[in-house]
Amino acid sequence: MVNMMGGFYADNDSLVRAEGHRSCGIAAQALMLAAQSMGYDSCPMIGFDFQATGELINLPKTHEISMAVAIGKALSPARPRAGQLPYEEVVIQNRFSK
Ligand SMILES: Cc1cc2nc3c(=O)[nH]c(=O)nc-3n(C[C@H](O)[C@H](O)[C@H](O)COP(=O)(O)O)c2cc1C
Repeated sequence: MVNMMGGFYADNDSLVRAEGHRSCGIAAQALMLAAQSMGYDSCPMIGFDFQATGELINLPKTHEISMAVAIGKALSPARPRAGQLPYEEVVIQNRFSK
């Protein structure tokens, strides 16, 4: 499996990058669910200076920030959602209709 993975990602930077961000999304979600189960609130964020943050944490050139997840105790309840796309628009079963 490990040998196969090397070839699968070799010379395909966009696949490597996409896979990294996919994994970070799953990890962030797991982190948020774990935080909630421990009584904390969380919020994923991309509204910060990636460059400055990278310098602050000595981010290696081979790494990229996907997002930040703030975890703590909410000072006030979350605001009502601005809106939500209809279920049928975001969940496609088997195939898109023509
Ligand atoms: C990857 C990601 C990045 C986000 N970045 C920000 C951000 O920088 N600033 C912000 O106010 N909300 C940001 N949001 C939205 C909030 O995290 C949150 O989704 C929003 O407040 C609505 O909450 P709700 O999804 O529970 O309704 C981001 C959401 C996601 C999924």
